[in-house]
Amino acid sequence: MKLKKTVLGAARRILSGEKGEAFTMRPSQRTEFPASSGTQDFYAHIPYCRNHCAYCPYNTKPLDLEEVPDFYETLLAEARLAAANGASVDGRSFYIGGGTPTCTGDGLTRFLREFTQICGQPATIALETSAEELTAPLLENLLRAGVTQLSVGVQSFAPHVLKSLGRAGHPETYGEKLEMAARAGFENLNVDLMYDADSESIGDLASDISQAIQTGADQLTIYPLFRFFRQEGVAMPRLRNRRKFFAFVWKRMELDGFSPVSVWSFRKGGRGEAFSSVQRRTFVGLGPGAGTCREDFFAFNTFDTSAWMSRIRDGKCAYSLEMPLSPNLSALYGLYWDLYAGHLPKKLDPDLKRRRLLALLASTARLLGFCRGETLTERGMYWIHLLQNQYMLDYIDRVWTVSRETPYPEAVRL
Ligand SMILES: C[S@@+](CC[C@H](N)C(=O)[O-])C[C@H]1O[C@@H](n2cnc3c(N)ncnc32)[C@H](O)[C@@H]1O
Repeated sequence: MKLKKTVLGAARRILSGEKGEAFTMRPSQRTEFPASSGTQDFYAHIPYCRNHCAYCPYNTKPLDLEEVPDFYETLLAEARLAAANGASVDGRSFYIGGGTPTCTGDGLTRFLREFTQICGQPATIALETSAEELTAPLLENLLRAGVTQLSVGVQSFAPHVLKSLGRAGHPETYGEKLEMAARAGFENLNVDLMYDADSESIGDLASDISQAIQTGADQLTIYPLFRFFRQEGVAMPRLRNRRKFFAFVWKRMELDGFSPVSVWSFRKGGRGEAFSSVQRRTFVGLGPGAGTCREDFFAFNTFDTSAWMSRIRDGKCAYSLEMPLSPNLSALYGLYWDLYAGHLPKKLDPDLKRRRLLALLASTARLLGFCRGETLTERGMYWIHLLQNQYMLDYIDRVWTVSRETPYPEAVRL
């Protein structure tokens, strides 16, 4: 374990050209909302959920209908702070994640209408929900409020798989609900599936994929189950199984005419750009636990809803942890999300400190068949999956663990 950590740390140092300390999030000293010039992508975090799913690592809390009006008032106040400091979402994207944003009822659609009056009209509004939530009136309200992309957490249509994931639900109703959502007129309907490569069979996954495709959804995101801190002592699925399932998913989606748009996501049809929760280089985050990424820093709002409310009510910015981004780190971050989307650019960003070494690795990847032209192959994407497992999951584990324990944590070394 220690050896693995040392090797991974050394690999990061060599590839990034940065010392370990560069990857440290420290308590943010900022009280003023940072100034923006020009338009920005926005993210809003709505933490409420009706049920807690055993596997979920995100910053969620049980739905409290009494708190919801205050929550949205605060979210609008934070949007006003962003707008007063020059940020506008005009023509850009607005991603609303959680949690399960739709469980908050009309508050969400009212918020959306007011938000656009404050920050401008986004070109895309992407929203997360779950299959349990879908009803005809909800879909109508969301469309009327301007939602263009809907992502529905299904995870599985099989009761035994849902049960083993520790998720409650009524999967027998999902097919019909999703068909209704597919007909509703969103530019993009994404369905999230999850599989546990150690406890389910390829047959279970094949059947889930078939059912998801039959609904008419134009994007499928198929995640391997990541095991985070809550399942202490539980290991990730065995590597051999992960490889087998990963290869199966790629082949199967290709046969059905879907094209990869990221490590886990495949698309066929739909209008506008693909649904994506993570691939923005810079964004302004609103809500408890929301991340913000600017050209020169990366920060998280406090995860604690009350602490977040009290900061915003005082007209202050609610960052808890912050990490400066040098031009090199910012370029590395950009390269990572390019790779995540299956794209290896021919010309690497000149701000990368280790550009020569990275270019050599890129040529080797092309020679070995991990990449064709600028597009990563299935083999290449499997390596990105492993990279994601090593660095991103570890980073989520560290930041999320301390941030859920205390509103304003000490420094976290990533
Ligand atoms: C932020 S969650 C929102 C899900 C939504 N609230 C629901 O209940 O369906 C977005 C997606 O992350 C994926 N996800 C969450 N935890 C995961 C884990 N431990 N491993 C893999 N994927 C996960 C799920 O597919 C989920 O639909």
